Amino acid sequence: MTDLAELLEARNRHISNSLSIGHDKPLHIVKGELQYLYSKDGTRYLDLVNNVCHVGHCHPKVVAAGQQQMSVLSTNTRYIFEGLTKYISRVADTLPEGLNVGFMVNSGSEANELAIRLARAYTGSYDMVVIDGGYHGNTSMLVQLSPYKFLGPGGVGVPESWVHVAPIPDNYRRGMFDHNEEMRNTILQAGRIAGLLVEPMLSCAGQIPLPEGFLKQAKKYVHEAGGLLIVDEVQVGFGRVGTHMWAFEEEGVVPDIVVLGKSIGNGHPMAAVFTTKEIAASLGEMEWFSSTGGNPVSCAIGNAVLDVIEEECLLNRAKELGEYFVSGLRILQQKYPVVGDVRGRGLFIGIELIEDTITLTPAVNEANRVVKEMRKRGVLLSTDGPLHNVIKIKPPMVLEREDIDTTLRHLDVVLSEGVL
Ligand SMILES: Cc1ncc(COP(=O)(O)O)c(C=O)c1O
Repeated sequence: MTDLAELLEARNRHISNSLSIGHDKPLHIVKGELQYLYSKDGTRYLDLVNNVCHVGHCHPKVVAAGQQQMSVLSTNTRYIFEGLTKYISRVADTLPEGLNVGFMVNSGSEANELAIRLARAYTGSYDMVVIDGGYHGNTSMLVQLSPYKFLGPGGVGVPESWVHVAPIPDNYRRGMFDHNEEMRNTILQAGRIAGLLVEPMLSCAGQIPLPEGFLKQAKKYVHEAGGLLIVDEVQVGFGRVGTHMWAFEEEGVVPDIVVLGKSIGNGHPMAAVFTTKEIAASLGEMEWFSSTGGNPVSCAIGNAVLDVIEEECLLNRAKELGEYFVSGLRILQQKYPVVGDVRGRGLFIGIELIEDTITLTPAVNEANRVVKEMRKRGVLLSTDGPLHNVIKIKPPMVLEREDIDTTLRHLDVVLSEGVL
C-alpha cells in the first residue's frame, strides 16, 4: 500500500466520516511555509484558502515564540504572568474604547459560546438572531445557531424556537430587498432577544461584505429589542480587510461583544472574547475558568502574531493585494460570463459563478471543476455559499503579487476551457 492509501485506511478506521476531506483526490500535506503547502510528492501548492495561518504557515517568528515559551512555562491563568496581561491589553488597544475586558479560550466555538452566555446573563433574555447561511461553531448550541448546519446536509431543517434567522443581505442575488427592513422585521418578530450574532463580512454565506450601513442599523434594532450586538470576527479579523484591524470598524459601529479566533494564533488553538467591564461582570459570582485558554504559550504566540502583523505591515499589504486581485478578477469577469460577481474587501474575496446572467442559476459543477483544475496547476481554492457556487479566496496575508499573477493566469486558462 502507498503512504496515502495506508493513511486513508487508518483514517477510515479511526476517524468519523462526519469529518470530510478537502478535494476530490485527497492531498497528503507534509509541510507548510508561509503562503505555500507542500505535498508528500514534493509538489508546492499556493494556499488561497487558509485564513487560520494568517501571517503564513509556520511563520518563523511565531514558531520561535511558541517553542521558546513552551520550554520555560505553560500553566493556567490563575497565576500572574506578563504574557497574558500584555496580550490582552495589546488586543484591547486595537478595539474601540470600552471593549477592554478579554477572556481567553481555545477555539472560536468556545468563544461564541461564552459570548452568548454573557449576552444572556447581561440581558436576561434567551433568544438569538443570526443571519442565514452562517456558521458559528461545532458545539450543540452553536449548531442550533448555524443555519449553514441546521439547514444544510444532515441538519434538522428548522430553527429552534429561540433562534431567529434573518435573510442574507446579498446585494447580488437579493438586491431588490431592503436588507435593513428584513433585519428589523426578524428582530421585531423575535421580541425580546439576548443578541444578534453576526459576522462583519459573511463567510460561509458566500463571501459577502455587509451592505453599507447594515451593521449600524442592526445594532439599533438589537438594542431596541433589549439585546447585544455580538460580532464574530473569527474569519475576518486581524487586518484581513486591509483598511482596519477589525472588519466591523469600517461600519463605524461599536459592538457590545467581539469574538476572535482562527488567525489569532496562526494555527495554534486559541480564541478570545472582548467586551465591556459591565457586560463581563454579568457572569456574577459564578467562576469562569479555562484550563488552557490564555496559557503562556498561547499568549507568546498571540503576541508574536501581533508583532508580525505590525512589522510586516500586513494591513497595507492586504489592502493593496486585495485591490490588485479583485481588479484582475474583474477583467476575467468581463471575459467570461460564468463569472457573475467578484466581491470582497482586502484578502477576503468571493467569485460567484453562474450559468445564466438573467436567472443567475448557480454554476455548481463549473465551480467544482475550476477548483479541481486549479489544484492540478498548484493553486488551492474551495467553494462555499448556500448555493455552493462561490469560490472563496482568503489566503495567508503574506501572499506576493506574483502569486496573484500566477493565479489569474491559470484561472484565465481554466475558465477558457469551461463549457459555460
Ligand atoms: C465565523 C466562524 N465562527 C466560529 C467558528 C468556530 O471556530 P472553531 O472552529 O475554532 O471552533 C468558525 C469556524 O469555522 C467560523 O468560521
